[in-house]
Amino acid sequence: MKKKFQIGVVPGDGTGPEVVAEGLKVLKAVAEKAGVGYDLTHYDFGGERYLKTGEILPDSAIQELGQMDAVYLGAIGHPDVKPGILEKGILLNLRFSLDLYINLRPVKLYPGVDTPLKDKGPQHIDFDVVRENTEGLYAGSGGFLKKNTLDEIAVQESINTRKGVERCIRYAFECCRKKNRNKKLTLCGKTNVLTYAFDLWERVFHEVGETYPDIEQDYAHVDAICMWMVKNPEWFDVIVTDNMFGDIITDLGAMIQGGMGIAAGGNINPEGAAIFEPIGGSAPKYTGKNIINPLAAIMAGQMMLTYLEESEAADLVEKAVMKVIQHDMKTMDAGKMGLGTSKVGDLVVKYIRDGE
Ligand code: IPM
Ligand code: MN
Repeated sequence: MKKKFQIGVVPGDGTGPEVVAEGLKVLKAVAEKAGVGYDLTHYDFGGERYLKTGEILPDSAIQELGQMDAVYLGAIGHPDVKPGILEKGILLNLRFSLDLYINLRPVKLYPGVDTPLKDKGPQHIDFDVVRENTEGLYAGSGGFLKKNTLDEIAVQESINTRKGVERCIRYAFECCRKKNRNKKLTLCGKTNVLTYAFDLWERVFHEVGETYPDIEQDYAHVDAICMWMVKNPEWFDVIVTDNMFGDIITDLGAMIQGGMGIAAGGNINPEGAAIFEPIGGSAPKYTGKNIINPLAAIMAGQMMLTYLEESEAADLVEKAVMKVIQHDMKTMDAGKMGLGTSKVGDLVVKYIRDGE
């Protein structure tokens, strides 16, 4: 008998629940079509629960989510909760506790989606960013001295372990081989200034690269990458980088692929748990208006299916999304799509059902 996947669902805050609802509609339709079995377990962690009960994310829930085959997440962040509490308490806590050391963020421009880049089309924008997801400046190392005095000192250290760097780089080489496109892996660093952290990254990059003679090794500083992502995005195939640089360049990546309305990502431990999410955040100003674009969440679901090795289902979702973009949507921008949130989900479902 085929495996029945256990999927945890954390809709979270703001527009999270709306877009997750559309993603689950699509999952249901494609699962019926492709014969995928799954059970959903819903969790209401997020700002509302925190404001009501003071609970952020109990250890027992982390454990449970870690046992799931995959977790589907909407968005974390609430306007009435001080920034950092939920982000650190839920999202970063899950990434760290479940050791989700890869943050995989595809930057792909689909036909019919507008990019702000002049003269660039789908043939130019199709790369993956592999962001280290558990170390670097995010590790929480540092502190204050003489806080709230004129002599105050704030230190925030970037932690880079050989193990952490190596497993991330190895995953990126594998990703590049699997993608089988230009077979080029670019290390994004800052070796001219961060001469300890990125010295380690660069050494490990070349060392691991020796076992991937089929993959071209490329290097660019992070500031230059920002320039090339705008000027020559076609140069990139897979980019590997640390946590902070990965955070920054993937927002830029989201913009060149058409905006947060379509950008999805996966927090992955290749040997364990994984969480898939639209990367755009909770968007309070669009909440509850049926105007947010659910395609990012739907594509996060597509990534989840790929991760679960349900490639037929994943292909069906991607094709259906491409049809909606080409035939029905004016833009990827919330409120301007020409369709409401739930209608976009309905159309993806329709194309899945009508598909061959
Ligand atoms: C992201 C977000 C998070 C990050 C925030 C919400 C903590 O920006 O997933 O990119 O910085 O990693
Ligand atoms: Mn970010």
